Amino acid sequence: MRRPATTCTQLTKARSVGKTYCPTGRPRETITGMNAREKIIQGTRVPTLGMGTYELEGRACREAVTAALEMGYRHIDTARAYGNEASVGAAIAESGILRDRLFITSKVWFDKLRPDDVLSEVDASLRSLRTDYLDLALIHWPNEEIPLADTLTTFKRLRDEGIIRHVGVSNFTPELLDQALRAGPIFCNQVEYHVLLRRNRLHQMAVEHDLLMTAYSPLAQGDLGDHRPLSDVARKHGCSVEQAALAWLLGQAQVAAIPRSGNPEHLRSNLAALEIVLDEEDRRRIEELPDGRHVVDPEFAPAWEK
Ligand SMILES: NC(=O)c1ccc[n+]([C@@H]2O[C@H](COP(=O)([O-])OP(=O)(O)OC[C@H]3O[C@@H](n4cnc5c(N)ncnc54)[C@H](OP(=O)(O)O)[C@@H]3O)[C@@H](O)[C@H]2O)c1
Repeated sequence: MRRPATTCTQLTKARSVGKTYCPTGRPRETITGMNAREKIIQGTRVPTLGMGTYELEGRACREAVTAALEMGYRHIDTARAYGNEASVGAAIAESGILRDRLFITSKVWFDKLRPDDVLSEVDASLRSLRTDYLDLALIHWPNEEIPLADTLTTFKRLRDEGIIRHVGVSNFTPELLDQALRAGPIFCNQVEYHVLLRRNRLHQMAVEHDLLMTAYSPLAQGDLGDHRPLSDVARKHGCSVEQAALAWLLGQAQVAAIPRSGNPEHLRSNLAALEIVLDEEDRRRIEELPDGRHVVDPEFAPAWEK
């Protein structure tokens, strides 16, 4: 695939300038229709609602990504570890969508963070995805046995060569994110974030440093439980609890969400969550829910903030 001109003019409709909810009291102006379809992070437009692809493989993955692209998704999240980059790449190639209209993220697994490994892993991502650059490359999980500065220096080299557009981290606690920010320009921290796991400190850091905070497992992997405040908010807006949970994320400054689904109906309703705008009272009710529920917590995870 040839590298396209670096134009970012993807807006198809005139939009008004509005405010995005920011609990730290410093709302950022964003381009918004309902919830902003794109957020501007460090000058780059990022589609606010993306598609996660964990556990989607082979033909099922290809068909789901094809359906999502047809519906209007332009932000796709994958990883070397998901084993599905070739399926994602095939769906993108078949879609005929211009490369510069897409925001593609991939991730390097935590045992491949030494400089030579980073170079070969990113190269393998590009080949599988059939693209010549990634919009965002992430350290998938921190690994204290490999010096962070060495990994980030390699990522920065790739960025300077145009092979990746932005450098980011994933599953970084506030302390680790602080270390990463000292080592070099960071665009994103992708973390588990949903109505049952509210990451106030990380969100505050995202606002302060103009970082993208990508909410993974935004539907708590399909298990949001049965909580009255969430179902009340959903009823008030005439939407599903999943849409209400996504709307809580999408309305926040700096935040993008990447729900995964292999079901076209769910893909469509997740995208439609962009049209649901919660008010202060809705947010207050949702923030009454129990907090601190990690659905992704492998043994190699860092010690999360309490
Ligand atoms: N950086 C990391 O370490 C990391 C870790 C985990 C995930 N991620 C990324 O984040 C993405 C999303 O997280 P996730 O896959 O863990 O979980 P998720 O998106 O929170 O939940 C996915 C589950 O929710 C169901 N679902 C989706 N939309 C629904 C809807 N509208 N109504 C009811 N059920 C719905 C899906 O089933 P159906 O298929 O039946 O719709 C699936 O079982 C991943 O796919 C991956 O790209 C990153």
